[in-house]
Amino acid sequence: MKAQRISKIERATPVTIIVNGQEIQAHAGESIAAALLAAGQRQISQNNKSSAARGYFCGMGMCFECVATVDGIPNVRTCITEVAPGCIVDTSS
Ligand code: FES
Repeated sequence: MKAQRISKIERATPVTIIVNGQEIQAHAGESIAAALLAAGQRQISQNNKSSAARGYFCGMGMCFECVATVDGIPNVRTCITEVAPGCIVDTSS
């Protein structure tokens, strides 16, 4: 069997989310963390004591390194939360 070359990746419907007051383009079905990474934002939260940057680590909801406030709900694990059109993400708290 001969391997086929993938020439184009088709992504789902584009959606816009608001991250720290700025619009970011994402795609339906993606996690919020994936959308942030695709937009070049690697820091998702910060350590409460040291203020060290925290971000995507396990990618499966186990480490809580990717928590952010989403639509006013604090400590949402962005790696297991899908984007929704117009959702508001705050990574500053
Ligand atoms: S990256 Fe580990 S819980 Fe989200």
